[in-house]
Amino acid sequence: MEQARRQAEEELRKHREHLKELVEERTRELKAANKELDAFAYSVSHDLRAPLRGIDGFSMALLEDYQDQLDEEGKGYLRRVRAAAQRMGQLIDDLLALSRAIRTDMLLEDIDLGKTAQTILDELREQAPERALEAKVAPDLFVRADRRLLRTVLENLLGNAWKFTACRDTAVIELGVLDVEHGEQGPLRAYYVRDNGAGFDMTYADKLFTPFQRLHTTEEFPGTGIGLATVQRIIHRLGGRVWAEGKVDAGATVYFTVGEKARGSDSREAARSVLSRTQRKDNAHA
Ligand SMILES: Nc1ncnc2c1ncn2[C@@H]1O[C@H](COP(=O)(O)OP(=O)(O)OP(=O)(O)O)[C@@H](O)[C@H]1O
Ligand SMILES: [Mg+2]
Repeated sequence: MEQARRQAEEELRKHREHLKELVEERTRELKAANKELDAFAYSVSHDLRAPLRGIDGFSMALLEDYQDQLDEEGKGYLRRVRAAAQRMGQLIDDLLALSRAIRTDMLLEDIDLGKTAQTILDELREQAPERALEAKVAPDLFVRADRRLLRTVLENLLGNAWKFTACRDTAVIELGVLDVEHGEQGPLRAYYVRDNGAGFDMTYADKLFTPFQRLHTTEEFPGTGIGLATVQRIIHRLGGRVWAEGKVDAGATVYFTVGEKARGSDSREAARSVLSRTQRKDNAHA
């Protein structure tokens, strides 16, 4: 009896070990494949730039040097060629930024989130001084993260908030923090950027983080749809998660955490319970 039990236990242990090895091996393979794919995306994007510069440059030369020989229709076509080439250039730049977000080395520092946000909001205000902005930035928010990557996150979130409030008399943009109870390890903090803009339909909330997916047309609001995909990649690198809440015509909120993974596994559980409690859409994957 005792022997049979021991034998069963031994079997179980072997299976467990084998499973662990398998998972580790698959993870290694997946990481390598991901890295390769990123390197590929990077080099393709990079190589596409040169011919694109040619298209844009020669269209411009035609427009300028042959303007007497072209009628208005011909000039119109060339302008459209240029506009399309420039849009493609923007897409390539955005793809490169996305790729860079996961390729660069990280240097972790304590960063003042509010100060960084204020700088970005000031820059946005300068770009459109005619717009009214009411900014509410919570003080003393320090986050351990890579400075450049965290700035990219905030640039995207605040940039979106600014863009999607263009339809409001006064844009109200808030950077805040939400404490989440969290077992023995102290509270888990979720930071958020909230706006009173166009909002979006929650049915498609998980699409927001997929590259090139947009819930608004470029006529309504310009953009390529790569910003939140970049944000998600960075937040995952920083060991956190990101999710969004919104309502059509009633504003949007994007939440993120940082460094959850480094704090132990039960932080994930805590975040999960909060997410389900408030029915927020969790958009991170492990
Ligand atoms: N604050 C927000 N309010 C309303 N909708 C938003 C907000 N932020 C993002 N979205 C929706 O999510 C989509 C994806 O956002 P994302 O930042 O990835 O792309 P984008 O802003 O359209 O373009 P890009 O960031 O590449 O310039 C947006 O097109 C929009 O439909
Ligand atoms: Mg954006």
